[in-house]
Amino acid sequence: MPNSDRVVLALGGAGTVGSGIVKALLDRGFKVVVISRDSNRLEKLKGFISPTSRENLVTLVGNVGSEEGAEEVKQALLKAVGKVTDVVSSLGFSWWQGGPPHTQTLKELHWVLETLILSTFVSWKAFFPLVRDDPSCTYTFITGGAGEKLLMPGTGFLTVGAASALAFCQVLRDEYPDVPCKLNQVKINTGVAPPDRLAPGYISHLDLGDAVATLVQRRMASHVVFSVNCPADLKTMLLENNM
Ligand SMILES: NC(=O)c1ccc[n+]([C@@H]2O[C@H](COP(=O)([O-])OP(=O)(O)OC[C@H]3O[C@@H](n4cnc5c(N)ncnc54)[C@H](OP(=O)(O)O)[C@@H]3O)[C@@H](O)[C@H]2O)c1
Repeated sequence: MPNSDRVVLALGGAGTVGSGIVKALLDRGFKVVVISRDSNRLEKLKGFISPTSRENLVTLVGNVGSEEGAEEVKQALLKAVGKVTDVVSSLGFSWWQGGPPHTQTLKELHWVLETLILSTFVSWKAFFPLVRDDPSCTYTFITGGAGEKLLMPGTGFLTVGAASALAFCQVLRDEYPDVPCKLNQVKINTGVAPPDRLAPGYISHLDLGDAVATLVQRRMASHVVFSVNCPADLKTMLLENNM
């Protein structure tokens, strides 16, 4: 199936990580659907992608973090594009450093969990059935290494939320070992930013987007965790995926 016949749902596609992925997918000729709760973020995304690919980007305002919201926006999506062949999920937030746990409220922990794991679960439950039984389809989760350690003082709830996302991906791999859809995870153990905001050791969201788009395009592996610690790992990830 040529890329032009494939429709990628980019969950979190208006975000820092997601926008790089959306641009790379569009540059390869995929049709891409992005859902955001904020129409301003969708407008910004339209200004960011290559002008020649604009007709292949479909944007929808919606909240994939609630069951009703996800169902509602799924119906709107199917009405607009008819099908989904691939899903890339990069829901969450870029950073959280609210302080050590004893200074935090339950409300704050709820917010972290809602944003990092509950939206990931609810949207997976809504959209996975669209791709689950087809070996030419893919579902790719983008997760962060913050789930494995405290990155620095005051980032504890980030670790709690990110660890939940890592565990959820593990559970899916183990619960659905034979699912035909290519189910993969890209675990990023460093910061991701646009080229003009790169700090030492960070990877560019454009380079990450290119690597993830290649993964989606090739759809060779399944049930694999691709770990990215530095820019060079993006190339290794692609080489391994080619074998
Ligand atoms: N940035 C990094 O340095 C970094 C590093 C390693 C891993 N990661 C991983 O990448 C993920 C995304 O990070 P990011 O930097 O791209 O964050 P971001 O810029 O805040 O983008 C996150 C996106 O998730 C979307 N989202 C969250 N809840 C939603 C909901 N209920 N309904 C619809 N959209 C929802 C947001 O949509 P709205 O437009 O509606 O707000 C936003 O577009 C993180 O969770 C993390 O696991 C990031």
